[in-house]
Amino acid sequence: MRFAFITDTHIGGDNSGWHRQPRWAGDPSILFDRLKRILDDHLIEVLVHAGDITEHGTRDEIELSLDLLDRLKIPVISCLGNHDMMAGANLWPAAVERRRDFFPADTIVRWTDCDFVAVNNHWIRDGKPQMFWSPSFNPDPSIEWQLEWLDEKLSTTPERPAVVVVHAPIDALPPDLTGKSESVRESSDAYCESLQLVLDNHPRVRLLLSGHCHVNHIARHSNRIQLTSTAFNEVPFMVRLIDMNANGNVSIQTISLREDSDPIDIDQAAAWVTGRASDRSA
Ligand SMILES: [Fe+2]
Repeated sequence: MRFAFITDTHIGGDNSGWHRQPRWAGDPSILFDRLKRILDDHLIEVLVHAGDITEHGTRDEIELSLDLLDRLKIPVISCLGNHDMMAGANLWPAAVERRRDFFPADTIVRWTDCDFVAVNNHWIRDGKPQMFWSPSFNPDPSIEWQLEWLDEKLSTTPERPAVVVVHAPIDALPPDLTGKSESVRESSDAYCESLQLVLDNHPRVRLLLSGHCHVNHIARHSNRIQLTSTAFNEVPFMVRLIDMNANGNVSIQTISLREDSDPIDIDQAAAWVTGRASDRSA
């Protein structure tokens, strides 16, 4: 099967929000129409989104985002990101319920050649959204519940390849990629180690997809690829096209949706975020 992967669309955001490359400042439907052409040209069956769908998680942004995703005319599988929680998690279920082809996190989606399992990285505690990758945050028992749930889901049909989708990445970005003196890992050690352990227990997981860092990066763990991507709304507007067969073999290509006439160009000082050749294809 062939599917596409994007992340961090930050619908509703402008350049005042955190970004690594200049953001698209025009009508977001222009970018989504370009994406639709790519999806159609490559016969893409499903789109996976790793969260930060919206910038502030407001009702209007959620509705606009779901309208934009609807334009693609293919099913969407997604988890939420920290930005999606900024106005509270309770806005999402009602909005998503009205959409036929939107599969939210914490469910397993069985596709032709593989299973998709998207997991939210967040929960509400003391009435507020909490992000467990924060180094200052003590892991909450609900992470154990989530990991047990994931472990249980992955234990079913062990012969089928699986793709796990989360917002927070678990791999450090290496100095070779960033140009910094040390590796950079944004998620907490407890989160990275506990999720890695579950994945290691299930060889059928051939792909971990995540976002949050707005960087193209591919890491390999045994027979599994762990991938993060640049933000979709940041130049050069990248999308991953992924083929997976019934044996779990994966190939990946990365396509830019930028056009020469766009009044926006890449910030060369941060050009590293688009990755090395080995971060763009596999
Ligand atoms: Fe983001």
